[in-house]
Amino acid sequence: MLLRAILCLLLLVRVTASTNGESTHDLLSLGDTALTMGHSNEAVQYYEQGLERIHNDNDNDPTVNLLTELSLYTNLATAYSAMGQDHDAIAAYEKTLVAYKGSRNEIVDTAVKLQADEICAQAAFFLGMVYQDLGKPKDAAEAYQKAHELDPWHWASMANYGAVLNDEQQYQKAVTAYNTAYDILMNPEHKPTDPPAEPRFILSQLQYRIGLCISQDLEQTCVLEDDPEKTVSCQQLATHAFSLAVEYDADNESAKHMLATLTADATVDRASNSYVKSLFDDYAANFEHSLVQELGYTGYERLRRGFDKALGNVSQVPVFAKVVDAGCGTGLVGEQFRNVSQYLIGVDLSQAILSQAVKARPGLYNETVKGDVTQVFRDYKPIDLIIAADSYIYFGDLVPLFESMREGLQNGGYAAFTLENSNAENEKLLAESTPDWRWQLTASGRFAHRQEYVLAVAQAHDFQLVHYEKLNDFRFEKGVGVRGHIFVLQKTESREDQQRICK
Ligand SMILES: C[S@@+](CC[C@H](N)C(=O)[O-])C[C@H]1O[C@@H](n2cnc3c(N)ncnc32)[C@H](O)[C@@H]1O
Repeated sequence: MLLRAILCLLLLVRVTASTNGESTHDLLSLGDTALTMGHSNEAVQYYEQGLERIHNDNDNDPTVNLLTELSLYTNLATAYSAMGQDHDAIAAYEKTLVAYKGSRNEIVDTAVKLQADEICAQAAFFLGMVYQDLGKPKDAAEAYQKAHELDPWHWASMANYGAVLNDEQQYQKAVTAYNTAYDILMNPEHKPTDPPAEPRFILSQLQYRIGLCISQDLEQTCVLEDDPEKTVSCQQLATHAFSLAVEYDADNESAKHMLATLTADATVDRASNSYVKSLFDDYAANFEHSLVQELGYTGYERLRRGFDKALGNVSQVPVFAKVVDAGCGTGLVGEQFRNVSQYLIGVDLSQAILSQAVKARPGLYNETVKGDVTQVFRDYKPIDLIIAADSYIYFGDLVPLFESMREGLQNGGYAAFTLENSNAENEKLLAESTPDWRWQLTASGRFAHRQEYVLAVAQAHDFQLVHYEKLNDFRFEKGVGVRGHIFVLQKTESREDQQRICK
């Protein structure tokens, strides 16, 4: 296990002691030097001599003696561990903890208490690792918990505790432990104990492991740890964890793989209406500024240009009697198609965004409707033109959408819409792992679609392709251009209609 291998390196590095007792201090230092040079046998002798001297010497300050004693036991155990004498190591680590348990309440100096806590936390942590190596998960778990109890900033004990729980298939508890380690490392106000040399690597590993635990049962609904009132799909939560893992470490191939497989043709087939509604209700006031000015969104005007190309050129675009702007937002697309719409209906799930559209572009729409586009297409049939920019990205499975477009549009009517495509690297991964992928839930919570899938669904629902165009960089996320598609389709007579006419 990668995380564990890295943590094991700490074993020889952490050697703590502070004492005024000259001779025991010397013995401790001599032992530490021998240990770091790999002379474990020699180190054992120094530490044992030191312990003997402490136990026979009653003149020194007992608290100073205690710190030295704790260090001697801990480092003695570490030397045994380096020699492969696991049972001796366990006995010595346990002695550290027992010695401290008996004296902790007598320590009045808080600085000394803190130091002793740290030494013992480290001893408990190492003890946990030995137990883990010996295949004793219960003892290991107890030791890691003890380490964290003594030193709440001991991220590594929580990371290893998570690994033990994961091996024991206690996935929920494992997520809590991993999250604790993650929170310690992310806390800007307190330095973690023994911070990792490469924090982004460790953060990536932690998120990857959180993702794996959550992925154990994707059918479930997950509860957010910091907001237990909120439930989300485990699929979304795992996707979030894997994408964070990739964000921290772009070379985390396992996380990349999990992200690709989890999100391609995932069991999530569309974003829930309540999710989309609350997203855009919250976003409404700042929506257009954020989308156009900050994210460089151009999908709305490029959809109109694509539509003109589809019909030949601008002069050949007729005026359509009834046009539905599906997922209209604040009216950016509606404005582009106003001059070819006799009666323009703006539809959106979010009332806040519809109000914003009316406020920002009074009179643009002849009518605004709050509702799900799939229902509105049916309620407002026959429709001559459906336009949808950046709104079908909340559907994964396009079948229900095409069923309702087929029902709502008249024969010969058009549907012009944009969709997202997967990013280039992901597309390559998918080509290897899932070549016939249909849709992919992206880390942003939206869906990307494969061109061939969209065309297959279109054909199956009596739509023919009039125009296709790549829509690269139509929006920017963290400075990276998002790839997309423009589709202009025309509804043909359905096979049923044709059969009816023939009869
Ligand atoms: C990113 S915005 C795009 C708005 C606008 N089309 C534009 O290009 O500026 C997506 C909009 O689609 C709406 N939307 C998403 N799914 C919808 C659905 N099933 N029915 C109605 N509106 C939906 C959202 O509420 C949101 O206002």
